[in-house]
Amino acid sequence: MKFLATIAVLAATAMANPVARATKEFQLKTFGAKNSHHNNLYVYAYHTGAGFNDAVLDKNGTSAPSFYLNGTTALTALGTDYPWGIIATGDTNYASWEPIEINVGGGSEGFSIEKGNFVWSEADGFGGWLVCDWYHNSPQLFYLNRYYTPTIPSSCSKAQLKAVYTK
Ligand SMILES: *[C@@H]1O[C@H](CO)[C@@H](O)[C@H](O)[C@H]1NC(C)=O
Ligand SMILES: *[C@@H]1O[C@H](CO)[C@@H](O)[C@H](O)[C@H]1NC(C)=O
Repeated sequence: MKFLATIAVLAATAMANPVARATKEFQLKTFGAKNSHHNNLYVYAYHTGAGFNDAVLDKNGTSAPSFYLNGTTALTALGTDYPWGIIATGDTNYASWEPIEINVGGGSEGFSIEKGNFVWSEADGFGGWLVCDWYHNSPQLFYLNRYYTPTIPSSCSKAQLKAVYTK
């Protein structure tokens, strides 16, 4: 009987995973930027290589990916049956801001939704989001490193990201 009970617990655990995943999915949408054309933009994945994407932004939200939190990682499916995770790339170059990527796998830890806004962890260096007109010929998403004092160029704006729930 002990053995059967263990199987039952395992089955319940396996069942719990898809449920957790289906809970709250959200698109990410910019607001609060001084430059109005950096507002009301949705986060998309821009393919840069096998398994790699840069996070770019577009005002058409129709096919913007939905993300979900798994603990403190932020994942999306991108039409595949394996997860892609949002990555806050590391500070390896003393730069005031760093790109956000959406790569195959589990992604960075430290993401959460605070009062409806999607944020990364300050302990990991998050100093807010930055939107810049950049080399994919569309606005691109970066995070500001809070340990540096940025000189923000006119092609960039600080912004916030709202979690827009889709289910
Ligand atoms: C938005 O994107 C969808 C497909 O993703 C497309 O069918 C639609 O025409 C686009 N809307 C505008 C206003 O460009
Ligand atoms: C969600 O997090 C758990 C615990 O860290 C991990 O085992 C699981 O693989 C994650 N799920 C996905 C889809 O990454």
